[in-house]
Amino acid sequence: MRILVTGGLGFIGSHFARRLATAGDEVVVLDKLTYAGNPANLDGVSHELHIGDIASPADVERAAGGCEAIVNFAAETHVDRSLLGAAEFIHTDVHGTYVLLEHARSAGVRVVQVSTDEVYGDVPPGESSTESDPLRPSSPYAASKAGGDLLVLAHVRTFGVDAAITRGSNTYGPNQYPEKLIPLFVTNALDGEPLPLYGDGRQTRDWLHVSDHCAAIELVLRRGEPGGVYNVGGGCELPNLDVAERILELTGAPRDLLRHVEDRPGHDRRYSLDSARLRALGWQPERTFEDGLAETVEWYRARRDWWEPLRSGEHFRAYAERQYGRRLAQG
Ligand code: NAD
Ligand code: TYD
Repeated sequence: MRILVTGGLGFIGSHFARRLATAGDEVVVLDKLTYAGNPANLDGVSHELHIGDIASPADVERAAGGCEAIVNFAAETHVDRSLLGAAEFIHTDVHGTYVLLEHARSAGVRVVQVSTDEVYGDVPPGESSTESDPLRPSSPYAASKAGGDLLVLAHVRTFGVDAAITRGSNTYGPNQYPEKLIPLFVTNALDGEPLPLYGDGRQTRDWLHVSDHCAAIELVLRRGEPGGVYNVGGGCELPNLDVAERILELTGAPRDLLRHVEDRPGHDRRYSLDSARLRALGWQPERTFEDGLAETVEWYRARRDWWEPLRSGEHFRAYAERQYGRRLAQG
């Protein structure tokens, strides 16, 4: 199949493009090359690359020609950045999704919208989100992803577009830009810098290895029902403090690098997904968190050439100062 992978220069999208190319599919990538996009992520992967914006009908038209399906990874993805300003999130995650759906409507191609467990908001202890639960997003990031999901469902129902949605949990692995919890803490620990835990560090996330996440998205692409929504949970719920402690252990960094800092506003305490629907299609996570995290730490240890230029760049430094400068000074 000839498949358009939007956001294919980012973290999960690049792993997915590699997976499709290995399976023999023809991969076309459309990516805006924001701070999170990195052409090196597709080294050695056969693909046709279009630099452009999913919110531009002309860019989408140009890239999608001849494709039988679109898998949409393109998004602004970091909660903390959405708290500093959300315009780009609405542009890409809402309007960009709309432009892709309009293309799918006229071209008659299948769409898989890659979404997130954050659209459900906080989940009380002992409960797990199912696909029919109401969307109660807390952050502008989560709200923009929920907006994209609702547009997908509207296009399915009203215009008969063949689209499905995956809602994945927190994903980790190689090639993740060093701003989210795991890659930030691993690279900070390797550089001997503080690990800034928000609040008490007792918030829990359900960790999913990127290869398991990509396997789930491929299954939905090939066998998901039109209009189907599929939760993709890693089945490994851990408090952030435990994750930080494991990272200190694996990197050999001292415990006094851990700092409790001022919490993130609106911080969701817990996410938890019921993935029974996807499991019924034959998916289950293959990677344990122990192995996956150890391998990820080894990847970052070996690939300073990949992340050092990102962390020393003006973009990362300005963001890190704005996000953590005052917090760490207070701590
Ligand atoms: P990422 O931030 O690493 O990469 C996003 C990619 O999209 C980048 O290559 C960027 O250049 C590109 N992009 C941004 N705006 C664009 C635009 N307007 N047009 C074209 N390309 C654009 O993201 P990721 O972590 O790989 O996430 C991929 C998808 O998976 C997102 O939709 C995200 O919401 C979803 N998701 C991520 C996680 C996670 O833990 N990372 C979990 C669940 C779901
Ligand atoms: P993050 O990786 O930003 O993903 P999300 O907010 O989408 O779940 O954060 C994961 C958890 O780690 C979340 O509870 C916030 C917390 N966190 C910190 O404590 N410190 C940090 O510097 C970051 C980036 C996250």
